Amino acid sequence: WIIALATVVAAYGLGSLPFAVIVSRLMSLADPRTFGSNNPGATNVLRSGNKLAAALTLIGDLLKGSAAVWLAQWVSHSFELNTLVVAASAIAAFLGHVFPFTLGFKGGKGVATAIGILIAIQPALALACALTWLLVAYATRYSSLSAIIAAILAPAYYFLGAGSLWPMDKNLALCVGVLSLLLLWRHQANISRLLLGTESRIGQKTK
Ligand code: G3P
Repeated sequence: WIIALATVVAAYGLGSLPFAVIVSRLMSLADPRTFGSNNPGATNVLRSGNKLAAALTLIGDLLKGSAAVWLAQWVSHSFELNTLVVAASAIAAFLGHVFPFTLGFKGGKGVATAIGILIAIQPALALACALTWLLVAYATRYSSLSAIIAAILAPAYYFLGAGSLWPMDKNLALCVGVLSLLLLWRHQANISRLLLGTESRIGQKTK
C-alpha cells in the first residue's frame, strides 16, 4: 500500500502543476488570476486574447491528468493492484489542480484535467464528453455551461458504455461520479452568473 500511496501523492503533485500560470508567465502575459473570472484555466487565459497560450494551457492541464492516470495504471499492472489506485490517483490529480500546493491551494475548476483523466481511463468516454462540450460551446458560446452539461452527462455515458464498449468497473464508475460532482461544485459562481445572464462568452475579452 506504500506504493499505492506514493502513486496517489505523485498524482496530486502532477495535478498541482498550474499550466495557466506557468504558460502565462513564460509568455509574459498577465497572471490569469488577476483578470476575467480570475480562474487559472484555459478559458480565462483565452480572455487575455492569446489563443496559443490558451491552447498550451489546455494541453498542459489535460496531459497532467492523463499522465497521473497512466502512471497509476502502470503501477496497478506492475504490482497487481486493483483499480482503486487508478480511481484514487485520478481524483488526487483533479484535487491537485483545484487545490494546488504550488498556488497556496487556490487552483482552477478542473475541466481540462478531468478530460485528460477520462482520456486515460476510457478514451471513448472522453470523446463523448469532449463532443458534448464542443456541441454546447458551439451552440451557446459558454465554456462553463458546456463543462456543466458534459459533467452531468459523464456518469450517464459511463453506464451506457459499460458492459459493451468497456468493462464495468465500480471503482472507475465511482471516480467518474465524484469528478462530475466536484466539477459542478467548482462551477457554482458560473452557475450564478449564467442564471443572472452575466456570464461571459468564449471569445469575449476580459470585462
Ligand atoms: O474551464 C473552466 C470553465 O468551465 C469556466 O471558466 O474562467 O469562465 O470561470 P471561467
